[in-house]
Amino acid sequence: MSGKVPATVAIFLLIGSMGWTAQGTAAQEPLVIAHRGASAYAPEHTFASWDRALELGADFIELDLQMTRDGELVVLHDEELDRTARGPQQECTGLVRERTLRQIQRCDVGAWFNAQHPDRARDEFVGLAIPTLRQVLERYGLGTRYYIETKNPEAAPGMEEELLRLLGQHGLLTEPETNRIIIQSFYAASLIRIRALHPGLPLVQLVPDGETSASIRQSLEQARAYATGIGPEQHDVDEPLVAAAHEVSLWVHPYTVNTAESMQRLLDLGVDGMFTDRPDLLRRVLEGR
Ligand code: G3P
Ligand code: CA
Repeated sequence: MSGKVPATVAIFLLIGSMGWTAQGTAAQEPLVIAHRGASAYAPEHTFASWDRALELGADFIELDLQMTRDGELVVLHDEELDRTARGPQQECTGLVRERTLRQIQRCDVGAWFNAQHPDRARDEFVGLAIPTLRQVLERYGLGTRYYIETKNPEAAPGMEEELLRLLGQHGLLTEPETNRIIIQSFYAASLIRIRALHPGLPLVQLVPDGETSASIRQSLEQARAYATGIGPEQHDVDEPLVAAAHEVSLWVHPYTVNTAESMQRLLDLGVDGMFTDRPDLLRRVLEGR
């Protein structure tokens, strides 16, 4: 797939470039965050997936960052290539951080989706490449909002600096464009580092599955020292957690919510947005309320 956006996506980019008001808060409509793009319908973390997400009305496209052996930021969920990459074994298996960008660019991250989801398979997914963060920022520019996760940052020294360098290079670190960025991580140290390097960016502390509402509530005081919000697993979210987070002005963005029933439950609780593989479904649910 080339770096040019299709006409349908261009319309959404134009609308997106017309400016945003305040950052997402409880006072606003909950945010539709396209988890790895519209990853129910197209291979995760590909231009096909993010294009589809924008066509379906996502407020944010979500991206997970990994760093290659030669220091390039690429967008892939797993630290290993094996689940979604196909291609020469030497290049397309094992840890991303042990492969160079040149090696990784030989891998196909669309074919697995067709094999796994024959009902949603498309010929054009075959051959899709692993995007670099730079390519994503060049393609979508100031026309969308980016919800970016630092993955395995402790094993990728310099990840935060490189992320901020690329955001700055693409005009996303100056007001009001910083409203287009939210940085998320399971690693507090990574968020704290970003805050030290560039104060003012919204930061969301992800919470691993396996916590409880009570244990997360106990960690809110700590999180509020550097974060703007928390990202808990959806089943850990209940009314006391949302109330406690809002009490200390933290957003609640649960992951990963793919049924209308779950979306309704979380919206009833007052969450500020959610990660979904199905941005169209969340948009419909919001419109129906
Ligand atoms: O980033 C929110 C959610 O995506 C965290 O889970 O494993 O899909 O990155 P994961
Ligand atoms: Ca993620």
